[in-house]
Amino acid sequence: MRKIYVAGNWKMNLIDDITPVVQISKNVKNLEIIIFPPFTHLQKYSEILNKTNIKIGAQNVFYEDRGAFTGEISYKFLEEFGVKYVVIGHSERRNIFKESDELISLKLKKILKTDIKPIFCVGEKEQERNLNKQKIVVENQLKISLGGIENNFKNIIIAYEPVWAIGTGKNATPFDAQEMHQFIREQLSTLFGKNIAYQISIIYGGSVNDENAKDLFREDDVDGLFVGGASLKGEKFKKIIEIVEKQII
Ligand code: 13P
Repeated sequence: MRKIYVAGNWKMNLIDDITPVVQISKNVKNLEIIIFPPFTHLQKYSEILNKTNIKIGAQNVFYEDRGAFTGEISYKFLEEFGVKYVVIGHSERRNIFKESDELISLKLKKILKTDIKPIFCVGEKEQERNLNKQKIVVENQLKISLGGIENNFKNIIIAYEPVWAIGTGKNATPFDAQEMHQFIREQLSTLFGKNIAYQISIIYGGSVNDENAKDLFREDDVDGLFVGGASLKGEKFKKIIEIVEKQII
């Protein structure tokens, strides 16, 4: 049985109130709740969440342990704050900060040698979907960044985040999400074998809210949700978690 995730990516923002989320942090079998605050707030939230089942993650990481890399953060520093997950290859990193598939691959290879699990993001831009090229784009992202990975594949979590759905209020339809998730699983099968591909969780991100969460999560290959804007409102994020919990139990 694949692990289910509800993750909140705060980006360069803070949550209005974490209390509602902390209150529902009971242990639901097979569900992992993760929040991704900015680096500067990892300590604060790891202390707040210390006695809950909610895990803390970082929004980025570099592939070297230490050295002259101004502005970068090593996984070793993240571990000190109890970080269990890290986002790699988010479309905002790709598009605004020009991170390449090759750089993303180096980060993935590094993190897979540690105890931190990567949430590896893929997804096409609006123009690419309009040209019906979404599968080619995602296939390339997967092939370049996952090619050459030799072990710990099972620790990878994939997030399908179509760029046109991020922060736009226009989520992928459950049908489109399922179609792409299934395609991703086929690609993983080619790369790592069917058995491993079946075990890797593939989560959906892009304008997830408390109204569309149920229908998106209902799809067979949607193993969780990656929430941006709606994770900044404690009450809303709590609702999304509860929607997923109900469908698991
Ligand atoms: P939104 O939910 O704001 O569209 O952001 C999704 C996202 O980028 C999660 O990583």
